[in-house]
Amino acid sequence: MTVKIGLIGCGGIAGAHVKGYLAASENAKVTAVSDIVEENAKRRAQEVGGAQIFSDYNVMLAEADIDAVDILLPHYLHKDAIVAAAKAKKHILCEKPLCLTLDEAAAVKQAVDENGVTLMCAHNQLFIPAIQRARQLLDEGVIGDVYQIRTTDSFYHRFRTEDIGWRGHRELIGGGELIDTGYHPSYMLLYLANSKPAQVTALLSKHRLHFMDGEDTAQVLVRFENGAVGNIVTSWAFEPAGSTERFSITGEGGSIYSYGNELYVKMRGKEPEVISFAPVETTFIPEIADFVTCVRDKRRPIHTEVEGIQVLQIILGAYRSDEEKRIVDL
Ligand SMILES: NC(=O)c1ccc[n+]([C@@H]2O[C@H](COP(=O)([O-])OP(=O)(O)OC[C@H]3O[C@@H](n4cnc5c(N)ncnc54)[C@H](O)[C@@H]3O)[C@@H](O)[C@H]2O)c1
Repeated sequence: MTVKIGLIGCGGIAGAHVKGYLAASENAKVTAVSDIVEENAKRRAQEVGGAQIFSDYNVMLAEADIDAVDILLPHYLHKDAIVAAAKAKKHILCEKPLCLTLDEAAAVKQAVDENGVTLMCAHNQLFIPAIQRARQLLDEGVIGDVYQIRTTDSFYHRFRTEDIGWRGHRELIGGGELIDTGYHPSYMLLYLANSKPAQVTALLSKHRLHFMDGEDTAQVLVRFENGAVGNIVTSWAFEPAGSTERFSITGEGGSIYSYGNELYVKMRGKEPEVISFAPVETTFIPEIADFVTCVRDKRRPIHTEVEGIQVLQIILGAYRSDEEKRIVDL
């Protein structure tokens, strides 16, 4: 079966997703694209070797020959697109964040449940081999009970007032950096903790991108139901210090940590063992392949709307914590 896909939004990140569909061409084909900017839609249609073009995704949902949609819109438009696609009985891959509020999340969950479609959150960094192996080692109990997890995603963003677009406006992005790039270390934390978030506290800062409504940097602490405590550092203001790991997990028997392409397993009092992986060119190719397989084989994605909502709870809890200067129970 070839899974037929319709793109909703054909801007920047659509280019990376298109490469994923081209790499999965044995099992998937983009047959329709939609964007309010015709030029963007035409470019993506050309890249996939031809597709029906729509300016209104609702018309695409009603008329195009598609099994699934890939939602690649600015954040404030995610909820309406998910609900419309679910009502049209299309399976859904949705870029982060799932949506912007817990009311929106409830509407998303209801639409997905009532219409029996699969929703996969496009949490592409879960497809980094080192993080999947870390999860596997944790499941095997290699370091025993987990005490602390740290995830980081920080870089020097060159945004200027004139090119930040919808990301500069709180109501369109849903906050600031934390609900955008900060979404990645948040879902990585959830994946590694493998437990429900229970409490969150955060400090937000604006170090450099003063023209944004929201924060350019966030430090977040999360306590999970299983007792593990997570620490997220995320920023568009600065490159991380040279020694900063991408993620680390510390437990009863030792620690597991990674800077990207390798995984270190260090049992207490011993030298670390290193597991190396081939460098990953792009995580979008395995992400799209996984979505196509989930739709074709009716398999549950790693993160559905269930985990998408938990990530959103962490982020919205962090915003509330910073605003109200307190620890927030989730
Ligand atoms: N996973 C990642 O690493 C990653 C990286 C970048 C962006 N993203 C996510 O991808 C999504 C899109 O980001 P982007 O950088 O591509 O944004 P973008 O602004 O480049 O593209 C958005 C596109 O949506 C179109 N659009 C706007 N309103 C529309 C509507 N009503 N109907 C149809 N199309 C409409 C715009 O014309 C534009 O082409 C966001 O959710 C963002 O967080 C993820």
